[in-house]
Amino acid sequence: MRENRPSGSEGGAGSNIPVPTPIAITKVGSTVGPNLELIGSQRDRAYLLESLLSPSATIPSGYGIATYSLRDKTDVAGSPLKETPEAITVRLPDGKERVIPRSEIANQTPPVSVMPPMLGILKPREVRDVVAFLAKLTPQAKKKD
Ligand code: HEM
Repeated sequence: MRENRPSGSEGGAGSNIPVPTPIAITKVGSTVGPNLELIGSQRDRAYLLESLLSPSATIPSGYGIATYSLRDKTDVAGSPLKETPEAITVRLPDGKERVIPRSEIANQTPPVSVMPPMLGILKPREVRDVVAFLAKLTPQAKKKD
């Protein structure tokens, strides 16, 4: 079965299966999520599949939005960047960073992804194709551009 072939054995030069080149990821992609240009060499297929189906399962540092309810009855929402026993540094929607001492936090939610789960958008077969495409995004593939 095609999906079980090792990465790099399907499509590309010498094959009639058209494979989009990684350049599409950088030139057409937005800056909402992480750069996926080399994701195929950084993560395995199981991780890639999980991040498409259940984006909140593993969230790389600096992504994901958490909400902090403070003791002064205000709320702060943003991406946790750094956590120490004393404080959490959060990137706010305007890009500024705010250090919130833990002693001021009454309650907090776990970070959730802003990425939509792909199963509501793509068919399982298409999800499989996206995983195969992402797995090919490696430094070797980039050099061929
Ligand atoms: C077919 C389209 C998409 C693909 C193939 C894709 C793929 C991925 C992958 C593989 C990751 C994990 C990266 C890592 O852990 O280093 C990721 C994370 C992420 N993606 Fe997407 N993504 C897509 C669409 C979107 C859309 C539409 C959004 C936002 C509206 C988005 C926002 C994010 C964000 C913020 C992350 C960071 C981690 C997280 O919050 O889960 N992605 N994406």
